[in-house]
Amino acid sequence: MKLLSLALFSGILLLLLSIKISAQSSVSFMPENRKWWKEAVVYQIYPRSFKDSNGDGIGDLKGIISKLDYLKSLGIDVVWINPIYSSPNDDNGYDISDYRNIMKDFGTMEDFDALLKGLHERGIKLVMDLVVNHSSDEHEWFRQSRSSRASKYRHYYHWWDAEKGKPSPRYSLFDVNHDAWRYDSLTNAYYLHYFSRKQPDLNWENPELRQEVYSIMKFWADKGIDGFRLDAFQFAAKDTTFPVLPHGYEKEFVKYYAMGKGLHTYLQEMNREIFSKYNVMSVAEGAGNTFEDAHNLVDADRNELNMAYAFEGVDIAKAEGYSLLHFKEVFSQWDSAFADKGWLSVFLANHDQARLVSRFGNDSPEFREISAKMLATFILTMRGTPYFYNGDELGMTNIRFTKIEDYRDMSVLNEYQYQKTHGGDLQKFMKRLQFEARDNGRTPFQWNVTQNAGFTTGKPWIKVNVNYKIINAAAQEQNPESCLNYFRKLVKIRKENLALVYGKYTLLDKKNPAVYAYTREGGNEKFLILLNFTAKPAEVNTGIPLEGASIVLGNYQHNIAGKGKKLTLRPYETVVYKLNK
Ligand code: NOJ
Repeated sequence: MKLLSLALFSGILLLLLSIKISAQSSVSFMPENRKWWKEAVVYQIYPRSFKDSNGDGIGDLKGIISKLDYLKSLGIDVVWINPIYSSPNDDNGYDISDYRNIMKDFGTMEDFDALLKGLHERGIKLVMDLVVNHSSDEHEWFRQSRSSRASKYRHYYHWWDAEKGKPSPRYSLFDVNHDAWRYDSLTNAYYLHYFSRKQPDLNWENPELRQEVYSIMKFWADKGIDGFRLDAFQFAAKDTTFPVLPHGYEKEFVKYYAMGKGLHTYLQEMNREIFSKYNVMSVAEGAGNTFEDAHNLVDADRNELNMAYAFEGVDIAKAEGYSLLHFKEVFSQWDSAFADKGWLSVFLANHDQARLVSRFGNDSPEFREISAKMLATFILTMRGTPYFYNGDELGMTNIRFTKIEDYRDMSVLNEYQYQKTHGGDLQKFMKRLQFEARDNGRTPFQWNVTQNAGFTTGKPWIKVNVNYKIINAAAQEQNPESCLNYFRKLVKIRKENLALVYGKYTLLDKKNPAVYAYTREGGNEKFLILLNFTAKPAEVNTGIPLEGASIVLGNYQHNIAGKGKKLTLRPYETVVYKLNK
């Protein structure tokens, strides 16, 4: 009898407890309009440099497949993979010669199917690049287009007949002469290429071309991919009369190239044809010139895209350093412009940038790990969908080549030639490259201490950073305090707290030149995030009493002393607090 009443009593107690727990969780933050792509953490894979499976020195799809469990262990939701389509590789896959095939270096369509399946089995989605501002000059469309003025494909590209005289100048980002018009004697005409000569711009004003693109998108969406990243798409619509642009326009070419008339019509058409029919996410590279431009791309009622990534933040880092006040201002302005409507990506690095820790942090042996963790904390505690570039979870650093022969990026090699022929200061140019060249972010992923960092058994297509003996995934797996394990914790914290995804952002201690401090709050959840962006101890005055607050995560082993409104953070220290609301 005694036993029975004891069991009954403990049963009631358990019931009461569980009611209390569920009551607590029901009052936690439940925003409206939840979307998977808002709550996702995106991890970017640069396939050429991730993992080589066949010893040819080039990363490939089978290599990625061999690392699926690593991807799963990160806790990320989405992989964005750079272009893997057939390509002559003038621009590492951003020059596509067949949109429905896999680049030979990377493997086969069977490999792709296996990769997609393997990701999906692990609950990870796949986003692919859609590179349709331009194709490769080796694409069949372009071959046909250049063969004759009468070709059906002529109007798939932008041609200017030479008998009309020279077209008005257009700046090319990658051309050895910065000239975006290339003369082709075969039909006595110039074609347009905003990027390299091997990347002719497609003519979006032609409805037939647009239908071709939608059919390509359907091909991949039917295969089951989960999204598209629209490469350079803000440049796609053009004024085909090619008017003369004002003197010096090239210094701010985005202002003249982006958001051409027709762009929104094409995106709405794409949305009707593709996005509305599949459960795929869409993200544009570039967000125009103003907040209004960006809103027009991503606001839900526009029926265009889910999100875009703006460059203003990522462009702040300069070799001479950068001002944290400026950094805070830019990120705060973007946040407030999108507080009520629209959605953006948050990122500080990708394959077009040098390494995160070398640009925004401090990659000296003393501060590399601590500052890499601090930067990761920033990216994963801001509002917007975070995009994290492969290798940054290890705190990989710039390689800083000293010889031009070591670079592989065609944009660097062409610019070197340009500087040479135009009497540029080559020494200064080489120095600048050590800070900002894209190849710094493209060196092979550092897996372990074996030859070539475990990336390949062959000769890597680009040199491996010698610091792989110290910075590599295998070593970091063993160390609970490593950047890698810190990143995993951060991802988990973000995933478990919707306030970090959707919650309101408030900047604190605005004029503090060393510390970035802000809160994120939603429902009954409130977080305080402190980030010291400098190599010196720095004070922060949050105005928030910390009695009763708990530390969710920090990048120093022993947490900071003091619970007051004023705190002193150690070099590059970051602390995430959960506050009592
Ligand atoms: C942006 C891509 O991210 C970059 O890598 C590429 O070179 C250009 N677009 C041209 O496609």
